[in-house]
Amino acid sequence: MTRIFSGIKPTGHLTLGNYLGAVRRWVAEDQHRAEALFCVVDLHALTVEHDPARVRRLSRQAASLLLAAGLDPRLCTVFVQSHVDEHARLSYLLECVATDGEMRRMIQYKEKSERARRSGQSVRLSLLTYPALMAADILAYRADEVPVGDDQTQHVELTRDLAVRFNQKYGATFVVPRATPPAVAARVMDLQDPAAKMGKSHDATAGIVYLLDEPEAITRKIMRAVTDSEPGVSYDPEGRPGVANLLEILSACTGKEPAALAESYEGAGVLKRDTAEAVVELLRPLQARHAELAADAGYLEEVLHEGAARARALARPTVDAAYRAIGLLPPQ
Ligand code: TYM
Repeated sequence: MTRIFSGIKPTGHLTLGNYLGAVRRWVAEDQHRAEALFCVVDLHALTVEHDPARVRRLSRQAASLLLAAGLDPRLCTVFVQSHVDEHARLSYLLECVATDGEMRRMIQYKEKSERARRSGQSVRLSLLTYPALMAADILAYRADEVPVGDDQTQHVELTRDLAVRFNQKYGATFVVPRATPPAVAARVMDLQDPAAKMGKSHDATAGIVYLLDEPEAITRKIMRAVTDSEPGVSYDPEGRPGVANLLEILSACTGKEPAALAESYEGAGVLKRDTAEAVVELLRPLQARHAELAADAGYLEEVLHEGAARARALARPTVDAAYRAIGLLPPQ
């Protein structure tokens, strides 16, 4: 059976980008058609300046939102990365297989390290080695597919390279995975800056729709989205990125093609209104379920406890095999 692994980082509140680019498909398709694991990757949240209490809070919230979105622990495994030691164990081995150069070539490293430097912060070494941990997340489970948005495909490519290199040097140990980005909304853009990805760790929040935003806030943010001064509505991601972003969001909500949707609008105002309504309706059930789950902390703990046990049992044999293959003496 196909195995799927994907993860979400608790560095901020989950956004519409996370939902449309990743989580929605995990719920609607992946958990039904494969053996699937979905992970709140909290170790990755330590690669940038962070507040420990906030990371804990966001980790719990992310897990709860995954369940509220419809991940069903009877169909898939939901767990927290730091509860399973195998991720960190394997990450070190992959650092021994990766090169400094390939880590430095990662676009996210370049962008985030640049941002940290500009704001006078030092760059944590773990930000550079992040892709080795991400590769460990995937390879420890021998996952075949990794459903992610566009921004993560470079990391999955590197994961493939590391798996192939390890297998060639030390013997067949890992499955070589592939990224499976969604057909639409693979990159939802910031509503205020359609040249930038809608990202949960950004400071300026006016262009970001969070999954737990009130309907009024969602409507306000979408109605104020930056478009352009051209008349009418057309689907042209290069020339008209703001309008294209709204069309793609609406497309992801309605299942209709962005170009076909464009033809039914005469002005950006009505497009914004319809997009806002569609997003509010899309998120309404998720928000209601999240409120219900918040009242039952015991349930979430139980799910995460069982999820970690299942994940550990799957990862352990592969990581042990990698330890032996690379030349480490098994414990006597
Ligand atoms: P993260 O937490 O930034 O994002 C989680 C998922 O949401 C997708 N995504 C988007 N998709 C479309 N438009 C957007 N604006 C948008 N923003 C985020 C991401 O592509 C991702 O699929 N490094 C990963 C987490 C990770 C991981 C893994 C993923 C760690 N280990 C192993 C898969 C497998 C990250 O930072 O995702």
